[in-house]
Amino acid sequence: MYGIVNQAIQGLVTENFGEEKWLKIKADAGVKVDYFLSDQAYDDDVTFDLVGAASNVLDLPASAILEAFGKYWVLKTGMEKYGDLMKAGGNNFTEFLHNLPHFHSRIMLIYPKLSPPEFIVEDFDDKTILLHYYSSRDGLTHFVVGLIHGIAEMFGTTCTIELKSSEKTDVWHDIFTVKHSS
Ligand code: HEM
Repeated sequence: MYGIVNQAIQGLVTENFGEEKWLKIKADAGVKVDYFLSDQAYDDDVTFDLVGAASNVLDLPASAILEAFGKYWVLKTGMEKYGDLMKAGGNNFTEFLHNLPHFHSRIMLIYPKLSPPEFIVEDFDDKTILLHYYSSRDGLTHFVVGLIHGIAEMFGTTCTIELKSSEKTDVWHDIFTVKHSS
């Protein structure tokens, strides 16, 4: 994944747990680079190894790290570095979710080698959205949960998310039920 993803893991760890923990996590993950370059593509293993090492060093389940990372990605990386793109995503929580299927097509202008997630969004009823997430990568379910909570927080609201199903065929496919108050 592009270095901006690994930079965000670094930001999440150093801001919440300090520089020393980050250096330990990086060393345990066997990552030799001093600084990640945001627009350089790194092997996906770098990202997954950092999450695994963070889970060990911080004594937290990988699911908790991924969820915190999803929130950080929206509220810090997204809002602070790409505020205009995030604003263009929608005027409220449900509008933003309905626009998710198109979101990364704009990002591809900045990161042309992106291998983006895919989303399908269905209204189940006026308070419930069914969110389908497809990925060429395995195991990012909890990252998506954190992202959706982060989007809710960005709009000053909350939601509950339930994983309805998760299956791996040629791609990963999760279906989430997102209950919202808007
Ligand atoms: C302006 C804000 C955003 C930027 C710049 C951005 C950019 C990126 C980048 C660079 C990657 C790594 C993929 C790669 O290198 O191949 C990525 C992955 C991902 N992004 Fe975004 N993104 C943004 C917002 C969002 C939002 C709001 C969501 C909401 C659901 C999201 C969902 C994901 C997911 C789930 C992945 C993991 C890739 C996968 O599932 O295979 N992103 N994004």
